[in-house]
Amino acid sequence: MTKKPRIVIIGAGMAGLTAANKLHTHSNNTTFDLSVFEGGSRLGGRINTSTFSSEKIEMGATWIHGISGSPVYKIAKETGSLVSDEPWECMDPTVDNKVKTFAEGGFEVDSSIVEPISELFNALMKKISQKEDIYENATRVCSSLSVGSFLKSGFDDYCGGEENGVDERGRSSLEEAIFTMFSNTQRTYTSADDLSTLDYAAESEYQMFPGEEITIAKGYVSVINHLASVLLPLGVIHLNKTVTKIEWRRSEECLPVKLCFSDGSVVFADHVIVTVSLGVLKAGIESSDGGGLFSPPLPGFKLDAIKRLGFGVVNKLFVEVSERHFPSLQLVFDREDSKIPWWMRRTATIAPIHSNSRVLLSWFAGKEALEIEKLTDEEIIDGVLTTISCLTGKEVKKDIDTTKPFVNGYVNGNDDEVLSITKVLKSKWGGDPLFRGSYSYVAVGSSGDDLDALAEPLPRVNEKGGQGNCHDQDKVHELQVLFAGEATHRTHYSTTHGAYYSGLREANRLLKHYKCDF
Ligand SMILES: Cc1cc2nc3c(=O)[nH]c(=O)nc-3n(C[C@H](O)[C@H](O)[C@H](O)COP(=O)(O)OP(=O)(O)OC[C@H]3O[C@@H](n4cnc5c(N)ncnc54)[C@H](O)[C@@H]3O)c2cc1C
Ligand SMILES: *[C@@H]1O[C@H](CO)[C@@H](O)[C@H](O)[C@H]1NC(C)=O
Ligand SMILES: *[C@@H]1O[C@H](CO)[C@@H](O)[C@H](O)[C@H]1NC(C)=O
Ligand SMILES: *[C@@H]1O[C@H](CO)[C@@H](O)[C@H](O)[C@H]1NC(C)=O
Ligand SMILES: *[C@@H]1O[C@H](CO)[C@@H](O)[C@H](O)[C@H]1NC(C)=O
Ligand SMILES: *[C@@H]1O[C@H](CO)[C@@H](O)[C@H](O)[C@H]1NC(C)=O
Repeated sequence: MTKKPRIVIIGAGMAGLTAANKLHTHSNNTTFDLSVFEGGSRLGGRINTSTFSSEKIEMGATWIHGISGSPVYKIAKETGSLVSDEPWECMDPTVDNKVKTFAEGGFEVDSSIVEPISELFNALMKKISQKEDIYENATRVCSSLSVGSFLKSGFDDYCGGEENGVDERGRSSLEEAIFTMFSNTQRTYTSADDLSTLDYAAESEYQMFPGEEITIAKGYVSVINHLASVLLPLGVIHLNKTVTKIEWRRSEECLPVKLCFSDGSVVFADHVIVTVSLGVLKAGIESSDGGGLFSPPLPGFKLDAIKRLGFGVVNKLFVEVSERHFPSLQLVFDREDSKIPWWMRRTATIAPIHSNSRVLLSWFAGKEALEIEKLTDEEIIDGVLTTISCLTGKEVKKDIDTTKPFVNGYVNGNDDEVLSITKVLKSKWGGDPLFRGSYSYVAVGSSGDDLDALAEPLPRVNEKGGQGNCHDQDKVHELQVLFAGEATHRTHYSTTHGAYYSGLREANRLLKHYKCDF
């Protein structure tokens, strides 16, 4: 009896579960000895559907970025996950229609001022994403052109250049602050703390699906649960199993890969598909003295790609407020009002998660995102309320007793008078050792080639060796370490569908290797 090839998948996020699902269902589930090891105590990884104030919310992945052609949309639709009787985080259009823009100092900014800047910003972003544009040649010459510097020069041109005196016109500092607000939204989209570190050329390689962008009514986790449903009864998914060492190119035994876990256990495999985040890989290569995740250490081309690519922190903050029908706010910071904490000053919006919700959401990127992970709930409540009151002039009440039930948040039972925050919930992607950040971006100095390099299996075809001691085996072990995950997809990185495609890609690589890609 021939032994079944042993495949181990590290990580039960979108990439890992897609790969496992594909390997299982397309090999008649008898071809491989398959297992999935997940360091956390739940499935989904950066998909983390949760509940807050009786509402379904997403701590991680939130949107299906364009429904036309999206495999995530297909699964969500087919499993009936797009409809629900319960309220969920849907940011419905009625919220957007009621959007108000407030600037520091307590005044509302008229849409006649905001709109032109919004249009300018969108036009510049469109230019960046287009395949060919006037900067086509410039990017080849000057490979360090960043999204940040492009945006800055676009805004300067709009203002009529330096000589016309940006400061002369009274509105300009306000216009600049509005432009910065849109840039801050872009920071959360890309996870780049500073847009001047975001590569300009790579942005045009990034692809979006056409069509609406929607959230998943029954929660993003329903897609995960669907992928896992055929695997769970087989007992192939193991939770709370953190890999601490991946030994590959082992010559002394038949199975070329050995995995060591934090609980001291050991597993051997023919193939391992690594789906951990780029942040975990970055941390895993830091100590080259044998303390790293891989032994022997990864080859130079991999290390370079891992080091060069960007991996930023984006966090979501949910606050439950004392009133319904709170408007959707855009926040413009055009002066240095010292009362507003620095970590709120690059937050672009604070908006209810649907038109009738008491739950408000803000997105944070970079240093600010890391900071909110450390703050206490009280500090966050204070900072958010200070910001709202400085910008809108609204009266707020900070000294609430959070041990009392919600209704105590009201003052005189009057919704409109005094705003208070009754509780908060935030994601913590930066500090979590299983993620160490939120999603990847192509940093200046890096390129799409690095995403491809990250996807390449090991050992490289032209540099095998160190194996082949098994009897009857003159062939060296191929495909010992494979890489999937969001950061290994050249055109759809940073997304759930990018992770999905990467999982399929690596499953197909093995199916093809074993000639069962029927
Ligand atoms: C705040 C936030 C918002 C987002 N919004 C969107 C969005 O709107 N739309 C969208 O498409 N995408 C979004 N994303 C990105 C999306 O969530 C990810 O791209 C995708 O889920 C990544 O899947 P993955 O399988 O590549 O990685 P992961 O989900 O990170 O899976 C890897 C798994 O490996 C596990 N692991 C790590 N180290 C070890 C170890 N040593 N041993 C064992 N297991 C380990 C982890 O616990 C994890 O479960 C968002 C992400 C965040 C954080
Ligand atoms: C899959 O399994 C079924 C049932 O055991 C068998 O009839 C079928 O021939 C198998 N197909 C392949 C392609 O191995
Ligand atoms: C994983 O660990 C958590 C505690 O961190 C525990 O509650 C859970 O039961 C464990 N799950 C498994 C499958 O071991
Ligand atoms: C880019 O350079 C090529 C070759 O020098 C030239 O033909 C082309 O017109 C340039 N494109 C733009 C947009 O300037
Ligand atoms: C495949 O696995 C399923 C369980 O998920 C089982 O019901 C089915 O019989 C298996 N098929 C084969 C061919 O082994
Ligand atoms: C996932 O969601 C839970 C709440 O359900 C939260 O406690 C946890 O911190 C979240 N994980 C991350 C990394 O944010």
